[in-house]
Amino acid sequence: MAQTLRVNGHEHVVDVEGSTPLLWVIRDVIGMTGTKFSCGIAQCGACTVHLDGNPVRSCVLPVSSVGNREVTTIEAIGATDSGKRIQDAWLAVDVVQCGYCQSGQIMSATALLKRTPNPTDADIDAAMSGNICRCATYVRIRAAIRQAATGKIVVTQAIPVAAIGGRK
Ligand code: FES
Ligand code: FES
Repeated sequence: MAQTLRVNGHEHVVDVEGSTPLLWVIRDVIGMTGTKFSCGIAQCGACTVHLDGNPVRSCVLPVSSVGNREVTTIEAIGATDSGKRIQDAWLAVDVVQCGYCQSGQIMSATALLKRTPNPTDADIDAAMSGNICRCATYVRIRAAIRQAATGKIVVTQAIPVAAIGGRK
């Protein structure tokens, strides 16, 4: 079934079954591989993209349900104000370890910052609770979100500031 999708400001006509998960279409049909597959059952957050600015798990979202909503992926999130600040903070804090979960983490963090410009630790924990990181970069993720919000690193656990500037 042919369907028109708006992804990152561009229209794509895709000919796939309506039940095909949006993630397959983004990666295999359109060819954008920044969004990752991991659990495939909406449990890990690796596949997170935005639909009209709201984070969704693309591994379980039938492409037929997207409709006219704008899909934003990690490839274009830096063009938004909150996405740019999150990505800059991610680099400043050196969040990434293996990197596999990080597209999804950044998409969830960007949606949080747009919705809640100055999140509390509880806001951050709630918004990020569905994004799993097997490398356990959670402390640096929280620090980066606080930096994106406030302009300065705020350590969210009792660890030396120097420890969040380098990889473990
Ligand atoms: S791959 Fe979609 S939530 Fe894990
Ligand atoms: S950085 Fe490795 S899984 Fe998160």
